[in-house]
Amino acid sequence: MLIGIPKEIEEGERRVALTPESAGHLVELGFDLEIERGAGAAANFDDQEYEKSGVTLVDDPRHLWRTADIIMKVRPPQPHPELGFNGIELLKPGQTLISTIYPKQNPRMLERLAERGVSAIALDAVPRISRAQKMDVLSSMANIAGYRAVVEAAQHFGRFFTGQVTAAGRIPPAKVLVIGAGVAGLAAIGAAKSMGAIVRAFDTRPEVKEQVESLNAEFLMLEFDDEDGSGEGGYAKTMSPEFIKAEMDLFAAQAAEVDIIITTALIPGKPAPELITERMVVNMKPGSVIVDLAAEAGGNCKLTERNRVVEHHGVTIIGYTDLPSRLSNQSSQLFATNLRHLLAELTPNKDGQIVIDMDDEVIRGCTVVREGEITWPPPAPRISLAPSEDIDKEAVQDLSAKEEKPAHPLAFLVPLALAGIALFGLGLVAPPAFMGHLTVFVLACFIGYMVIWGVSHSLHTPLMSVTNAISSIIVIGALIQVSTDNTVGMLLAGLAIFITAINIVGGFAVTQRMLRMFRK
Ligand code: NAI
Repeated sequence: MLIGIPKEIEEGERRVALTPESAGHLVELGFDLEIERGAGAAANFDDQEYEKSGVTLVDDPRHLWRTADIIMKVRPPQPHPELGFNGIELLKPGQTLISTIYPKQNPRMLERLAERGVSAIALDAVPRISRAQKMDVLSSMANIAGYRAVVEAAQHFGRFFTGQVTAAGRIPPAKVLVIGAGVAGLAAIGAAKSMGAIVRAFDTRPEVKEQVESLNAEFLMLEFDDEDGSGEGGYAKTMSPEFIKAEMDLFAAQAAEVDIIITTALIPGKPAPELITERMVVNMKPGSVIVDLAAEAGGNCKLTERNRVVEHHGVTIIGYTDLPSRLSNQSSQLFATNLRHLLAELTPNKDGQIVIDMDDEVIRGCTVVREGEITWPPPAPRISLAPSEDIDKEAVQDLSAKEEKPAHPLAFLVPLALAGIALFGLGLVAPPAFMGHLTVFVLACFIGYMVIWGVSHSLHTPLMSVTNAISSIIVIGALIQVSTDNTVGMLLAGLAIFITAINIVGGFAVTQRMLRMFRK
């Protein structure tokens, strides 16, 4: 099949859906590739590099829309600013469009695609499940956006992020509040933290607390009657008005204290909740910065203006919606890699022929139109708490087996009695010293077992290294022998002390190191 990649035409869009590297992988999958000349220029990918990777350059994008079996893009189709065409009207049955589509916001586009009899795969609808992570463009772009949000904030913030003590005085570190600790939020926390700021974060999903803390940021808790914001498919759910009110009170108190607020709070397909009011902006220190990542969906801040940087009451408010595009080379690389993983999934036979398998949860989730039929929204994710039939049968068999042979309450006494008789017999024939050694051996086994059994599995490796160090107790034997008159014995004892010393010092050092890994 032929894949065509037209140049992105949205104003300010610098990304491209194919890189020379991903092209190589797609050729291996059996595809032919054509790209519009100059499509990768804004992301620093030369036409010559594409040619070297086996991609044919095309001048007229209309040719791609008409002839390619698969059209691969970053942004949804839109009217071409110079040539006037949209692209969808040039498609014919059998073709497939793979791009972001935002089906919920663009129902009319789905209808138009269906009218053309084509298939359409919405990259923004890839379900957020572990298996699909490598195809999830929203996550990889949000990660870049979170990082870039901090860079933009630093650009407009007239101070250091990190604190410093200099001869000219002490500079306190900047305080950053991140609202929404999803993919973008966590990336922003990591970037702000690495620049030396004090970072606080808030999210409606309590399970992200640990992730926030693992980045050495503070998770702000809200005293509220246990309302959990976790929703379906790895995204959040809409919170009650009471919860929103409580969190806004928290932000009002924080606004007066922090220097930078980065907001990423959003539930996909819904307008962004308004969490930062004008009053809060007024209360912020002059020179503070707000970066509103949810600007595309209306913004988390009342004063955000889409795609603009504005200043109100001395506070800079950044509403860019093209943050990944501002790191176009890397975002294109990640985007193209996500796409090639998706195509690998769509090409099970690696023969350059895609198969849209509607039984595959990931493919089903992102296929919004199939051969002229609108297939969006997909059925709810199959999450069943009921055990599978096989497990059920096993469990039933297990239970019935147990029911057949109920254990006698005194059953454990039999082996104990047998062991006692065997020991008594042994005691009759064995020399007295043997029985003494045997008792010590059995007790040592018992104590060793009890000590190790009580230690959590994750700590077994440090435990082993410390027992390794302790086992060097044999050094005592060597110490006793080292004062012998026999020269050979003395030398051997000296060697034994040297080697066990390595064991002792090394064992404790390794244990210390391992235990440090368990400390936060
Ligand atoms: P995500 O779904 O992983 O994270 C959003 C987080 O916000 C979730 O953890 C959710 O629990 C939290 N949240 C929802 N409602 C909340 C509330 N009322 N209070 C506090 N937290 C709340 O989404 P992701 O991928 O991290 O994206 C975040 C935002 O960044 C989205 O708005 C997305 O559209 C935007 N984005 C913006 C870009 C830009 O260039 N401006 C580029 C990429 C993403």
